[in-house]
Amino acid sequence: MAAKRILLIIGGGIAAYKSIELVRLLRKSGHVVRCVLTRTGEQFVTPLTLAALSENKVYTNLFDLKDEVEMGHIQLSREADLVVVAPATADLLAKMAAGIADDLATTLLLATDKPVLAAPAMNVRMWLHPATRRNVATLRGDGITVMAPDEGEMACGEYGPGRLPEPQAIKEAIDTALKKPSPLQGRGLGEGATATDSPSPNPSPEGEGDFSGQPDFAPANHRPLFGRRILITAGPTHEPIDPVRYIANRSSGKQGFAIAAAAAEAGAEVLLIAGPVPLPTPPGVIRVDVETAREMAAEVEAGLPVDAAIMVAAVADWRAADTAAQKIKKDGSGAVPPLALAENPDILAGLAKSARRPPLLIGFAAETNDVLAHAGAKLARKGCDWIVANDVSADPMGGETNRVHIVSKAGVDSWDRLPKGAVARKLMEKIADELDARLPASDD
Ligand SMILES: Cc1cc2nc3c(=O)[nH]c(=O)nc-3n(C[C@H](O)[C@H](O)[C@H](O)COP(=O)(O)O)c2cc1C
Repeated sequence: MAAKRILLIIGGGIAAYKSIELVRLLRKSGHVVRCVLTRTGEQFVTPLTLAALSENKVYTNLFDLKDEVEMGHIQLSREADLVVVAPATADLLAKMAAGIADDLATTLLLATDKPVLAAPAMNVRMWLHPATRRNVATLRGDGITVMAPDEGEMACGEYGPGRLPEPQAIKEAIDTALKKPSPLQGRGLGEGATATDSPSPNPSPEGEGDFSGQPDFAPANHRPLFGRRILITAGPTHEPIDPVRYIANRSSGKQGFAIAAAAAEAGAEVLLIAGPVPLPTPPGVIRVDVETAREMAAEVEAGLPVDAAIMVAAVADWRAADTAAQKIKKDGSGAVPPLALAENPDILAGLAKSARRPPLLIGFAAETNDVLAHAGAKLARKGCDWIVANDVSADPMGGETNRVHIVSKAGVDSWDRLPKGAVARKLMEKIADELDARLPASDD
């Protein structure tokens, strides 16, 4: 990839030291890095270290008048190809979501018209707090890429999601973000953009959008989902019984991942929420990994609003009512331990009732008998727009092909058996047509 200009904003978290490694990796790839340290960030890493590694001046103060002459704060945010916030503290995410601009970092973030990628790092309780969930959802809705934090033991001794993703993973997310057009520019908010010079929904390869990161989609300039934001769930969920056992199902995730790949190929901004499957992330797709139905429900909520949600995941209907903290052992008496189940949240039905219901909501149904009858009943019960039904009695989950029926109020559209990739591309065409009919792309 050609050298790009990265503006790296470093917040005041314990993981700030990892930003030093990130700067090193970015410089190694030839990128130009300018660092901005928040006042609290300065408590964790020094401007001197960052200046030495980035080989650039480090900015800390909004009211450094000399810099305002040399390089105004607006220019600093606009001359970058990508703005990265790492670590993005809970405080920084909250200020970004609220549009607060009370120091150099937050002013730059509000003034920028460039894509922004945030790598959060905070205590697990802070990450799971409803306020942070709301802020992350708002930022994603605004087109900002918020990475999922890593899960593991934290500096504070607690365990869970909240650790800063490893510098190499942030670097890969940066590479992906650099290949995508800015969502702000896609909405006609790019520098100098007007209602008429915003990117066309089907830009040519030489056009304004840079699609170099997207795989080919025939014909090459056909991007029917350009400017659309699509959420996809895929794979099974794992519901723990104890630290080593779980309830699961046979979903392979292949159809959901093929749909995510096809949506990205068609130009959409794609958020893939994946259960535990060993599949590679399709190019251009933002992936969030989850284990349980409840985690999936939380990430779906955090991913809204979207233009379309395609709920392909085989979410476990039930979980163990109590998860044992330690491995359940045989006690030698021959007694079988009871396994009480609790019902999981119904993600599809919940989304259908949500105030932020996606304009197009699609569920999947894997059935072993009476496929169309079950699919019709599911459509009514869940309140979604389409059910994509398939018969898994003859072709078990995990196969390479699928024969699907799209069931909607308008009737049933049955397709021949096709490879899963072909099903995905055909579905994208149908979704693009539906979205164009329901939600004409806006110019403003
Ligand atoms: C030792 C220490 C470690 C901290 N680590 C984090 C952290 O990892 N994530 C976070 O969100 N806040 C953390 N905080 C709290 C932030 O420093 C505080 O919210 C601060 O206002 C954030 O400033 P910023 O907006 O410049 O990032 C920590 C505080 C201390 C004293």
